[in-house]
Amino acid sequence: MPLAIMCSGGDAPGMNPAIKKFVDYLYEKGEKPYFVYNGLDGLIDGKIHPATHKDVGGILHRGGAIIRSSRSKRFYEYEYRKQAYENLKKHDITGLVVLGGDGSFRAMEKMSQEFPLNFVGIPTTIDNDIYGTDTCLGVDTALNVIRDALDKIRDTASTFSRAFVVEVMGRECGYLAVVSAITSGAEICLVPEVDFNWHVAREHLKREIRHGRNYVLAIVAEGTKMTFDIADWLENDIGMETRVTVLGHIQRGGSPTVNDRMLAFECTIRAVDHLLSATSSNKVVVVENGNFGMKEIDEIVNNKYQIDPELLGMLNRLD
Ligand code: F6P
Repeated sequence: MPLAIMCSGGDAPGMNPAIKKFVDYLYEKGEKPYFVYNGLDGLIDGKIHPATHKDVGGILHRGGAIIRSSRSKRFYEYEYRKQAYENLKKHDITGLVVLGGDGSFRAMEKMSQEFPLNFVGIPTTIDNDIYGTDTCLGVDTALNVIRDALDKIRDTASTFSRAFVVEVMGRECGYLAVVSAITSGAEICLVPEVDFNWHVAREHLKREIRHGRNYVLAIVAEGTKMTFDIADWLENDIGMETRVTVLGHIQRGGSPTVNDRMLAFECTIRAVDHLLSATSSNKVVVVENGNFGMKEIDEIVNNKYQIDPELLGMLNRLD
């Protein structure tokens, strides 16, 4: 049974190990693997090619995705989804592994309601904002990239007695900011999920400064859109010379960590096994309390991810 693998939406470290495992595992099973290049746009444009061991040699340690990705606007239109299906049909492909976020899963679900096609989603996004799973491919690597950056920023912040505001990615989700703040001992953390108490934070900071604190690290999730407000407040209200660092897309790059490589392998094997078992329902591979499982696509895309309250409780916030 020919199967294909595709990346969709923002890339994340771990995609390449998943792509490699997909090819190696399908050959092991005596089946034929295909690549869909360029994500959903490539599906529409027929960029579907057989994959060989040679294609995946030496890619395990690389960030990004050798088969590339895209955010497709055309896929919202029925005619393009039909074209995409017909492209798959030319190769007799009836099952697809999709590395992406819930937007990509929603798009694929729409297509599989219209045409006889099964897919299994592997949650892949540094944002960790997908309902039903504790983690996503790419999150661990992104957290380590952020940790590395924060350790370096702390060096210069403490040497110069400055405040640093560091903006991290995550769209509307504060997960990257929360975990980074906890593990880097940041003094301030702002996330979309929690209101920031300016008054209490000011009192705490002023007291700490009176007791000798000479630098401040503030982590701000991009979804709050408050990076420059906090910088202004630290400079003018708290009275500390302040600098802003927006980490940006470096958070999406880098060699996948051991955890992300293992996660990629485990998820891909499960996704392939499910598609080869010829059941008709579309699923998403999830991890809950350290255990792997499969969930129905409806449950994933119709619910909103929320940060574990216990994690928020661990945040050493100043309010
Ligand atoms: O979803 C991953 C992500 O990196 C978000 O954290 C960020 O807001 C967005 O993608 C950036 O998108 P783009 O790469 O299109 O600028």
